[in-house]
Amino acid sequence: MKIGYVQTSPIFGDKEKNFIQIRDLLDKVKADLIVLPELFATGYTFVSKKEAESLAELPAGKTSEFLIELAHKTNAIIVGGFIEKGNSQIYNSSLIVSSKEILGTYRKLHLYYKEKLWFSPGNMPLKVYDVSKAKIGVMICFDWFFPETMRTLALLGADIIAHPANLVLPYCQNAMTIHCLVNHIFAVTANRIGQEARGTDSFTFTGGSQITSQKGSIISSASTDHVFVDFTEIDVNQARDKSINTYNNILKDRRPEFYYTK
Ligand code: ACM
Repeated sequence: MKIGYVQTSPIFGDKEKNFIQIRDLLDKVKADLIVLPELFATGYTFVSKKEAESLAELPAGKTSEFLIELAHKTNAIIVGGFIEKGNSQIYNSSLIVSSKEILGTYRKLHLYYKEKLWFSPGNMPLKVYDVSKAKIGVMICFDWFFPETMRTLALLGADIIAHPANLVLPYCQNAMTIHCLVNHIFAVTANRIGQEARGTDSFTFTGGSQITSQKGSIISSASTDHVFVDFTEIDVNQARDKSINTYNNILKDRRPEFYYTK
């Protein structure tokens, strides 16, 4: 199975230009799974809730139309971030699409910093999509900081975590090696690069998009400051074997009756 990411440099608020950047970067690419960054079409550093609301869309909107067209061209399942318009609130969400349709949306559970001022936290259970030769779980950026996120997706049967990100802290890339190892799953972290200075905030996004194996090795790593696209072939069966030796299996050996879950 061929999986990969696009590491982009979005222009704040210019969805059309951001679509074109990705379309050009993926010209002639064919794959099974492509992951794009968090909020890849809008940018990240909002100055008000109103501004974020003005860039929000229903799941069936301009961004999903673009992604479905891209899925059609590439033959891939595509996962990428957008601002989702709810009833009276907005969410930092990701779309999961095939060449035919929207398969689902995921609303970020763990909001970072001022995201808490703009977005409502996710209110839907974590879910795994059984598509394109694999079971794909989705989380967004800061969700990685909460090990329960990947553990839950692993328990639900995920082989691969699609992880759109706009990382600003320096820890995720290393941390993913451990999260992937302890869950025996693959992950594709699609980050962005560049700087956004808006209002009182200035973020430098860390790039370093990464594909991490079920053994915790980094099988693709992008630079910190260049637009980049990369793909690799994986065998999803390696994520389905949860044994470490004859005696140990990382899911069967759990002792949930002794864990604190509240
Ligand atoms: C983040 O969750 N975008 C830092």
